[in-house]
Amino acid sequence: MEVLRCEQLSKIYRSGSAAVRAVDNISLSFEQGGFTAITGKSGSGKSTLLHLLSGLDRPTDGQVIYQDKDLFRYNDNQLSVLRRRRFGFVFQAYNLVGELTAQENILLPVMLDNRKPDEAYLDRLIGMLGIGDRLGHLPGALSGGQQQRVCIARALANKPAILFADEPTGNLDGRTGREVLTLMRSVSAELGITMILVTHDLGVAEQADRIIRLEDGRVEEDSGAVIG
Ligand SMILES: Nc1ncnc2c1ncn2[C@@H]1O[C@H](COP(=O)(O)OP(=O)(O)O)[C@@H](O)[C@H]1O
Ligand SMILES: [Mg+2]
Repeated sequence: MEVLRCEQLSKIYRSGSAAVRAVDNISLSFEQGGFTAITGKSGSGKSTLLHLLSGLDRPTDGQVIYQDKDLFRYNDNQLSVLRRRRFGFVFQAYNLVGELTAQENILLPVMLDNRKPDEAYLDRLIGMLGIGDRLGHLPGALSGGQQQRVCIARALANKPAILFADEPTGNLDGRTGREVLTLMRSVSAELGITMILVTHDLGVAEQADRIIRLEDGRVEEDSGAVIG
């Protein structure tokens, strides 16, 4: 079943007389529960495409359809509520709130939504991520890998339909990066969450069910929507 698709999506950045087609007429469909890696060289448009697919940024042209509706037909407020409830995000920079404990950081999106946390679900999530004994610590007292695992827990706290990640292992050493990626993958699979991950690292991309390679804002290669 399809969970998200984009149609003839373009993003053009203009500066003076120059125009950069960061995303150039891309149409893709994503299956529920799949793990897709978007790869390509630096500047090929990966982050721009991810930002458009996740509603963080508006396109110059085209649509992103989630649950039969174009994301960009929602107003900013509706879109941010939808993003908070249905989408999770993990970035290269950990961007945890430094004054809050790991646990408070994880609960933040649930609190912002005025909802009661699903304790059993969160316990399971925290257990799967192996951060149960780190919950009372401030981010500054955690290693990079631990901070990124807290970010993953935070991104999944609201039980999103889709987890978007932009170079989530980019700041980690190779081994820790692989561990974090394996965890992200197994937790998402276990919870039935669709994963769309941007990486320039082919070793990381090869762990995905599907690899999409961008070049100059276009899809140069797509291994297809295979669910692993
Ligand atoms: N805010 C922006 N303003 C102008 N140009 C941008 C902006 N963001 C990205 N670009 C340009 O769009 C292209 C794609 O960038 P990006 O999506 O960040 O690529 P990647 O994530 O693959 O490195 C690049 O040429 C980049 O310089
Ligand atoms: Mg990028």
